[in-house]
Amino acid sequence: MVQLMPATPLTAIPTDIVCAADYERYARNHINDAAWAYLQGGAADELTFAANCDAWRKLELWPRALADVRNGHTRCTLFGDTLAHPIILAPVATQRVFHAEGELASVLAAGVMGSAAVVSTQASISLENVAENAQGPLWFQLYWQGSRAATLTLIKRAEAAGYRALVFTVDAPISGVRNREQRAGFSVPGQVTQVNVPPITLPILQEGKSAVFDGFMAIAPVWDDINWLVNHISLPILFKGIMHADDASRAVTAGAAGIVVSNHGGRVLDSVPATLSALSGVVAAVNGAVPVLVDGGIRRGTDIIKARALGATAVMIGRPYIHALATAGALGVAHLIRLLREELEIAMALTGCKTLDDINQSVLRTDSATEIL
Ligand code: FNR
Repeated sequence: MVQLMPATPLTAIPTDIVCAADYERYARNHINDAAWAYLQGGAADELTFAANCDAWRKLELWPRALADVRNGHTRCTLFGDTLAHPIILAPVATQRVFHAEGELASVLAAGVMGSAAVVSTQASISLENVAENAQGPLWFQLYWQGSRAATLTLIKRAEAAGYRALVFTVDAPISGVRNREQRAGFSVPGQVTQVNVPPITLPILQEGKSAVFDGFMAIAPVWDDINWLVNHISLPILFKGIMHADDASRAVTAGAAGIVVSNHGGRVLDSVPATLSALSGVVAAVNGAVPVLVDGGIRRGTDIIKARALGATAVMIGRPYIHALATAGALGVAHLIRLLREELEIAMALTGCKTLDDINQSVLRTDSATEIL
């Protein structure tokens, strides 16, 4: 079936966009079929992708009446920067697929709205160019570059460009398992490229060798590389893609400055738990040593208060801000962040929490938590 040309981005926000789900609905008109499949898809049967959203949806809150929350706020401090709220833009590759201004638009919106944004190794605008145009703190998302030397070269560029932290993604050493986008024939359009680094050269496979064990995984990082890495960087480093409590402990011992509980939005290994289910175990293992962030399926302010109640310091959002970017560029992303922040403020006020530090498990209906966790 031939798809009509995607609609051009809006220059004003329609009055019927009042939540993240509205942006998803609008975005469908502004993104072509193949790019839509790439954005929306999860790995294999998309069990984890579905579980992420379901888990937040199922957990319930206890409202508290008549609490005095005057002068409340959503501020938090991370890696030396005070953010207006704990909503951070997750790294999403090649954003010019979704809007001509790509990463420049999303980091502009993040800065204006008091968020931090994480810029992907696979960005479609150079990490230096994005940093020059930023209005707020940026973190750089690192993919291992197949060797220590190549990885360090990339890190040094991010340090020199003024990034405030590194977010090392450890859950995706293997790509190419995203069935929905493959079915839709997605490939990054010719005029949009991943400009930061050249494609990684995979080992040449001998007859009978495995593309996984002798290909991708032969040049993937292991814990030894982590020990080496933390001794060669000056920026705080977060590990993104940690789900197991033991990995969280090991990362902290190795020098992690933060953990991001993430399953890559359900895009890598299917059948792993929702991030909500993994969060409490990681928080317990980390035991306050470093901040724990979480992403995957965060779609509303109530999801954010639930994440805080389970011990997360902050959340990251992925697909929702790309929906807003495709719909209305920087304006859309800024508006989405405002909507989520206002939803969080309402959830805090109506559960009796004046600041993020007041949020704890007492805001959750524990039966609903036990059913899920
Ligand atoms: C991602 N994600 C991702 N993560 C990462 O570390 N580096 C990357 O380059 C990308 N690229 C990317 C592209 C697209 C299209 C998507 C949807 C996601 C994962 C991302 O950072 C985040 O973990 C998830 O998107 C969070 O889940 P939600 O919010 O999309 O449900």
